[in-house]
Amino acid sequence: MQTYSMAAAPGLPAFSERLLAWFDVHGRHNLPWQHPRTAYRVWVSEVMLQQTQVVTVIDYFNRFMARFPKLDDLAAAPLDDVLALWSGLGYYARARNLHAAARVMAAQGIPDTLAHWLALPGVGASTAAAIMAQAFDAPATILDGNVKRVMARHAGIETPIEQAATIQALYYVAKRHTPSTRLADYTQAIMDLGATVCTRSQANCAGCPVSQDCVARVTDQVALLPARRARKPIPTRQAVFLQLEDDAGRFMLIRRPPSGIWGGLWCLPECPSKAFDEHAPSRSLGSVAAREAMLSQWSFTAKSDALQVAAFEHRFTHYQLRARIERVCVATGDNRQDNQDIRWFYHDELPHALPGLGLPQPIARFLIEYAAGKGG
Ligand code: ADE
Repeated sequence: MQTYSMAAAPGLPAFSERLLAWFDVHGRHNLPWQHPRTAYRVWVSEVMLQQTQVVTVIDYFNRFMARFPKLDDLAAAPLDDVLALWSGLGYYARARNLHAAARVMAAQGIPDTLAHWLALPGVGASTAAAIMAQAFDAPATILDGNVKRVMARHAGIETPIEQAATIQALYYVAKRHTPSTRLADYTQAIMDLGATVCTRSQANCAGCPVSQDCVARVTDQVALLPARRARKPIPTRQAVFLQLEDDAGRFMLIRRPPSGIWGGLWCLPECPSKAFDEHAPSRSLGSVAAREAMLSQWSFTAKSDALQVAAFEHRFTHYQLRARIERVCVATGDNRQDNQDIRWFYHDELPHALPGLGLPQPIARFLIEYAAGKGG
């Protein structure tokens, strides 16, 4: 592994001093979780920020706090309410873990050590450190994606950022720069620098407070670092979602199983499908047998062919989902009943019902268009 820093120039203040002076002028001081910066609010914000950018998180965070101002409000709420407020943020395991962790904390108290935060569901090393630093001013070192990028460039670490040895080296550098005072500000500052100055594709080295001794800048490697392993292309998975409509024009949403993609969210039932033909968009090539097997689990019978009414693509971390939505008219007999995992909706109930349901984003988008009279 190569060296981690340039020799400090004589008289150059410490990395953290320069960063904090920059933060005082240019950092973000009005993020909603900073006022007040309680452990509960910092925790919720850090979980939301795990895979989502600040600009997106702000509105979700404000709505979340309006509905769950205190830990006990969150712990007492049904999971469905939490998922509804998470709808559109993605990575729904975060919401399920948040809810489970809230219940643990309501019983045991809010942790004030790194180890106790780490023991909670959905709290990894970087999140725990960010909470300890921001809510408790504790000397914890964070290493989220932004910080890894800043450290890789500043120290000139050239090995692929996914490798365990690289992460260890980045952590070592990050820890060495972590000051012993103003931890909350320093932690926000390093994340702000990564998000607004040392960005992935358009680093603004002229506006960077630590550029003088940045190895990547001096060796003209800013655009090359952090290095990544060549990415394998991700596979594509096909899926068909069914809009089952009964004689009265109602259709069915079901709750997805608690684990797996979109776990616990309300969704159109997903029909196991074989590959469909992209050149025949209006005809269903989803397996008729699979569809019938699916309908029979509720004792429904199909009264029409399946008609494609929408198509979408959605990217998950490990695959691309290419999906169709097909409408099928069904006879339900006496079996059309709402229960914990099934709900039927009239078209004109949707505008009122949708905001209260945790729905995957592409399904929500389809239903909004359907409610507006567009979705087929
Ligand atoms: N990413 C994770 N936590 C963050 C924070 N507090 N501010 C900005 N970006 C972040």
